[in-house]
Amino acid sequence: MEVIIAETPTDVGRIAAQIIASIVSAKPAAVLGFATGSSPSGIYSDLADIRQSGDLDLSNARGFALDEYVGIPTSHPASYAAVVQRDIAAPLGMRQGNITVPDGRRADHDKGCRDFEEAMSLAGGIDIQILGIGTNGHIGFNEPTSSLASRTRIKTLTVQTRTDNARFFAGADEVPTHCITQGLGTILEAKRLLLVAQGGQKARAIAAAGEGPVSSMWPASVLQLHPCATVIVDEDAARHLELADYYRHAFQNKPTQAVST
Ligand code: F6R
Repeated sequence: MEVIIAETPTDVGRIAAQIIASIVSAKPAAVLGFATGSSPSGIYSDLADIRQSGDLDLSNARGFALDEYVGIPTSHPASYAAVVQRDIAAPLGMRQGNITVPDGRRADHDKGCRDFEEAMSLAGGIDIQILGIGTNGHIGFNEPTSSLASRTRIKTLTVQTRTDNARFFAGADEVPTHCITQGLGTILEAKRLLLVAQGGQKARAIAAAGEGPVSSMWPASVLQLHPCATVIVDEDAARHLELADYYRHAFQNKPTQAVST
């Protein structure tokens, strides 16, 4: 796993956006995996800026969202279908038909989840999966004790996650109790993983994910099993990393052709 410690939250988004832009420049029909929430918002605005400058064309790229709430309409402003369209696809100039979000309104969730996974594999799999991390270490909505081999499925949100996400709703009680999320096994199939985190409230989860044992208690620790995972954090989120000095040294001295980590 490559850990990059950026000086500021803004730098986290900038470095991540450059990695994604270089992938799309090399492969204009790249398949991107989108996280929603606050952590990746700087990535999307930086990518939109690069696009505005004429250096990036995402019109042939495809995108798959990591997760979706169950029980709210796609017209709800906090539904990930709405967020992905409004905050990602539109500013990045992606075609609406090129974006797939798990469907939280299906009567048969198992079938809906299988269809979603099939669509991802028909698209050729995810070239780069963008991830945030919950304060409890979740990625996607794979809450602690999720199977490390899990696939896209319906999942019950923890009280912690519902409290953390209350800011996107009228209150914590309005946050749905369930979601559809790509599984940890699904996420591991992406060709590249890129996790971003900012702020001291993520520091414990980042240390557990990067330097603790691989454990379903800290689902993001599954990134340690991936051959090409990059974690970009700001100084506050890096606060509990034991090997912070090594990560800084390694980034400053990175071999130009290094891809695997
Ligand atoms: C959202 C997602 C979640 C968030 C995580 C952090 O699609 O998959 O794992 O990335 O809850 O959320 P923020 O970035 O809002 O702190």
